[in-house]
Amino acid sequence: MSKSNTWQRTHHCGALRPQDAGKTVVLNGWVASRRDHGGVIFANLRDRWGVTQVVFHPEQAELIAQAGNLKLESTVGLRGRVVKRPDNMVNPNMPTGGIEVAAEELVVYSEAKPLPFTIKDPPDALDETRLKYRYLDLRRPAMQKNMILRHKAAQAVRRYFDEKEFLEIETPFLMKSTPEGARDYLVPSRIYKGRFYALPQSPQTYKQLLMVSGFDRYFQIVRCFRDEDQRADRQPEFTQIDVEMSFVDEDAVFGVMEGLMARLFKEILGKEVPVPFLRLPYPEAMAKYGMDKPDLRFGMEIEDISGIASQTEFQVFKDAVASGGAVRGFNASGIGALSRKDADGLAEFVKTFGAKGLVTLQVQQDGIKTPISKFVSEGHLKRMAELYDAKPGDVIFMVAAEEKTCCAALGNLRNKIAADHKMIKPDDLSILWVVDFPLVEWDEQEKRFVAMHHPFTSPKPEDVPLMGSDPAKVRARAYDLVLNGAEIAGGSIRIHESGLQQKMFHLLGIDADTARRKFGYLMDAFQYGAPPHGGIAFGFDRLVAMLAGEDSIREVIAFPKTTSALSLMDGSPSEVDEVQLRELGIKLE
Ligand code: AMO
Repeated sequence: MSKSNTWQRTHHCGALRPQDAGKTVVLNGWVASRRDHGGVIFANLRDRWGVTQVVFHPEQAELIAQAGNLKLESTVGLRGRVVKRPDNMVNPNMPTGGIEVAAEELVVYSEAKPLPFTIKDPPDALDETRLKYRYLDLRRPAMQKNMILRHKAAQAVRRYFDEKEFLEIETPFLMKSTPEGARDYLVPSRIYKGRFYALPQSPQTYKQLLMVSGFDRYFQIVRCFRDEDQRADRQPEFTQIDVEMSFVDEDAVFGVMEGLMARLFKEILGKEVPVPFLRLPYPEAMAKYGMDKPDLRFGMEIEDISGIASQTEFQVFKDAVASGGAVRGFNASGIGALSRKDADGLAEFVKTFGAKGLVTLQVQQDGIKTPISKFVSEGHLKRMAELYDAKPGDVIFMVAAEEKTCCAALGNLRNKIAADHKMIKPDDLSILWVVDFPLVEWDEQEKRFVAMHHPFTSPKPEDVPLMGSDPAKVRARAYDLVLNGAEIAGGSIRIHESGLQQKMFHLLGIDADTARRKFGYLMDAFQYGAPPHGGIAFGFDRLVAMLAGEDSIREVIAFPKTTSALSLMDGSPSEVDEVQLRELGIKLE
């Protein structure tokens, strides 16, 4: 057989079983391993479906010489006969472990040079190396599994929405800036020098326009672009399942989304997810869990003890309460005795969230051990322990600070302790809606109110009068879906009247001219019969990472960027030719 012809396979590398014994087959794949057993050579051939063991026998001199020279990760075609393995040679860990293929003919399509790292799970290469040679990293079975899972999830999403009469409609990538609050990626226009398109931070305005056009029930699996600081769960370009519906209220949106989650968990993980999901008001989430994406897979709820704390002689507590802050804490029941070193480490941890320190109370059989015993009477200590329902062996953590700092420090400490002490069982699931977000929050730097979700989010009708008098108290018709402590979706019921929209811009300090310049097209559209509408967008990467059991969304994106927004493989961003810049009318500083 000539090398230029690709042998057409009869089976893929995960297909053969003992009942295929005796068949002559052709396999194509990569040489995943090669072992020389004194004359007999074994090789594993791998493709995306699996691995099959191939054996070369010493009596076939030419073939065995060829096999002896096989380089790992080369691509080959192999013709051979399926042989059932003797019982004692069966490999129960491989789906094809009941057979091997006795080689009769081999062709090497492309010989691989030594790889920068071994293709195995878990990988032994640095993250940077994995990203530089991503096409090799993606050969690892774990990565193949993740990409296949992502595909299955995307198909399930499409089927679900199609059944529910949603239309998938594409929206532009080259557009005017959108209002999601991150920095835009800009694309210079060659034809109109000095003018720029922005890549969409989301299709928010387009999907609202589609509602005006009458395309009730829209969805799109769509790329979004945001120039923001990267973290394990953020990428400069990421994928959303974007949804918008007309003539709906919160219940209608929640119903469709709960159905989608139930479908995905069932199809992908074979798990039942009970619906409807819990709805937790934002103020309660902040008070009990210190954050708007609480993880309910463990307890340790935060309680405010400002009342009793301010009655003690401990100045730190008194001052915090007197200056309008709070003293809050939680009982980390079950973590066992706390060493001095542990306590110091945790104190350092809360400092990264702005707390000045961390007070510990260790409840023991013979009393309460705490560094603040000099300032706080035994009676007060006992009362505190009671408020936290503490029993001997329990440890209470407390922070005295501004309310915001208490929340951040304790909320994050709560998550850390659960992780450090392995309180989460693999099958535990926490899924809930966080509702009743504030419409706006004060931005200290910009000295103005900014939208907590985006400027098109509707206030609750009963709170509209407060927009003039006490904006911070206005509740929004916004909601987030929180899965195992991560925000996987966010959305809102929108404003559909120009009058209210103008009021909102005014509150955000966006003057009429700026509003017209930025969103005039949307404002205009709303004057021609806009249906009441609302929607939501899922972080698809985050959702898939959760389904795959991965901590980082990079593990479920084929070609991700580093945390500093670099593509190590193709070297982007990169410099461009002088000619290209000149065509665009751009001069570099
Ligand atoms: P939002 O900005 O909340 O809402 O985004 C929706 C979801 O997208 C995910 N996400 C990200 N994932 C990876 N990398 C990022 N940089 C990133 N940023 C956001 C999150 C988030 O919950 N237009 C509105 C939706 C709407 O109102 O309908 C929007 O984009 O999981």
